[in-house]
Amino acid sequence: MENRKPFIAGNWKMFKTCPEAVEAAENLSRIVEGVSDVDIMIAPPFTALSPVSEAIQGGVVKLGAQNIFWEDEGAYTGEISAKMLLSTGCSHVIIGHSERRQYFGETDETVNKKIRAAIKSELIPVMCVGETENERDEDKTFSVLDKQVKKGLEDFLLDDLKSLIIAYEPVWAIGTGKTATTDQAQEVHSYIRSVVRDSFGSTLAEGIRILYGGSVKPGNIEELMAMPDIDGALVGGASLDPETFGKIAMY
Ligand code: PGA
Repeated sequence: MENRKPFIAGNWKMFKTCPEAVEAAENLSRIVEGVSDVDIMIAPPFTALSPVSEAIQGGVVKLGAQNIFWEDEGAYTGEISAKMLLSTGCSHVIIGHSERRQYFGETDETVNKKIRAAIKSELIPVMCVGETENERDEDKTFSVLDKQVKKGLEDFLLDDLKSLIIAYEPVWAIGTGKTATTDQAQEVHSYIRSVVRDSFGSTLAEGIRILYGGSVKPGNIEELMAMPDIDGALVGGASLDPETFGKIAMY
């Protein structure tokens, strides 16, 4: 197995005001101080990015956004550009989360444009993919992921994707308490890696980090991380409490 550094990310979704976010970020920073064998990232809501960036300055916690728009600037009410994210201190951005696809009309095409905008600005994209419960029941898991990965990464050059991180989040396991079994997750991670290999070759496939997301908790992280193709986690609910998230990050 390639030497892929574990990556544990917390997606705070639409939780926490600025003061709440700063407090949680400061606590987390203290809890994981000095951790160097795992990359740790939090993605607060847009409004809290700047103050959280200050709160974690000098520590090991990295800052990510939950979304991005692909234009540099313009009359796009409510949208946020890569340049704006960079100016808050962000280094990473989550793209195509299933909640964005489900509630805000994101498609593989918009995901592709957003990844391009992130890469152009040297933000590290975390591209989310995953099947719904119906799709799994209908045995479409692999075909859905094949399409999401290929369309999401269509027309990129190998060189563009060196920093890319992929997060596999089965939609039926997000916020439901249901976790994919480690074998189910491993099977899909290995499949996603094979799709990357077919499209971009084995160097990228072996180096790319593929995170698992969906009801990750302190009690299941170790087992997940023991699987050969699971390189980290994208954590929602359990990332809101710094103690709990700290336990996951230091599994
Ligand atoms: P969850 O969310 O950990 O609350 O299931 C994961 C995610 O949506 O990233």
